[in-house]
Amino acid sequence: MALRAGMKTLVVGLGGLTNGGKSTLSHSLHQQIPNSCIIAQDYFFKEDSLVPVNNNGFKQYDVIDALHMDVMMGVVDSWRRDPERFLAEQSPRAEHTAASDKEDVFVLIVEGFLIFNYRPLIELMDKRYFIEIPYDACKQRRSSRVYTPPDPPGYFDGHVWPMYLKNRQEMENMVSDIVFLDGLKSKEELLAAVYADVSQEIKTLKGKTLETFQPYVIVIKTNSDQSYKSQNHTVIYPECHSGVDTNITQHKDALFITTYFPFPILSSFEDEDC
Ligand SMILES: Nc1ncnc2c1ncn2[C@@H]1O[C@H](COP(=O)(O)OP(=O)(O)O)[C@@H](O)[C@H]1O
Ligand SMILES: [Mg+2]
Repeated sequence: MALRAGMKTLVVGLGGLTNGGKSTLSHSLHQQIPNSCIIAQDYFFKEDSLVPVNNNGFKQYDVIDALHMDVMMGVVDSWRRDPERFLAEQSPRAEHTAASDKEDVFVLIVEGFLIFNYRPLIELMDKRYFIEIPYDACKQRRSSRVYTPPDPPGYFDGHVWPMYLKNRQEMENMVSDIVFLDGLKSKEELLAAVYADVSQEIKTLKGKTLETFQPYVIVIKTNSDQSYKSQNHTVIYPECHSGVDTNITQHKDALFITTYFPFPILSSFEDEDC
């Protein structure tokens, strides 16, 4: 990842059933949040001829295989590699302060009806929301919209709704920390709730400077040159840390090295090439 030093990112997943209000809310959030952009799953549907028909004669659009998820992930990855450039290419005339403000947080809004049914995408998200509306409202909203290709008669009850129930069950088995939103609330109310939550996340990220991290204590025994277990079970190799600005104290046969990492320790150093 070619992230500029100090650059912070936040990925917000906005899922929900068809006509729940995902696109509406995503666009409003995007307008409110500086340095944000949207990647919408609907843009990655396969062409009609590649979407199979089931036994009932209905085109299987409401399944993950109807989408070019590999292509979508490619776009998400290009944002992750360089959010600033991605943003500039998407909206070249948009004003943003990215280049000058080290405190900027770049926000990606990923929206779609099956974003929580695809593990590689789920794993990238920092916040997950799901807009739900009841059957009647959904059917009503869907019937007033024109799709390409158009919904054939009986499509909602024969494919869309049963697949929603199936996909939703699958989603709940895959993800646990989803915030459910009542899509019958007004657009303004929904925006206010999610905006407040995301703004708080952004504020927290901006405040995360070096000093806010706890000292990380590594214990290296001096009577062997093997690798050692540190306090929180991260395996480290002594030579990895030569030159790191640390505070070293000795007690009996152990060296206590206190250092600050400018990022949360997420994974082990084990197997890393020092
Ligand atoms: N909170 C809301 N209250 C009432 N209608 C809404 C709300 N949010 C969206 N809509 C309407 O519902 C329809 C579907 O909204 P859209 O955002 O396109 O849904 P999705 O992207 O989830 O399919 C649109 O006509 C939109 O204006
Ligand atoms: Mg939409």
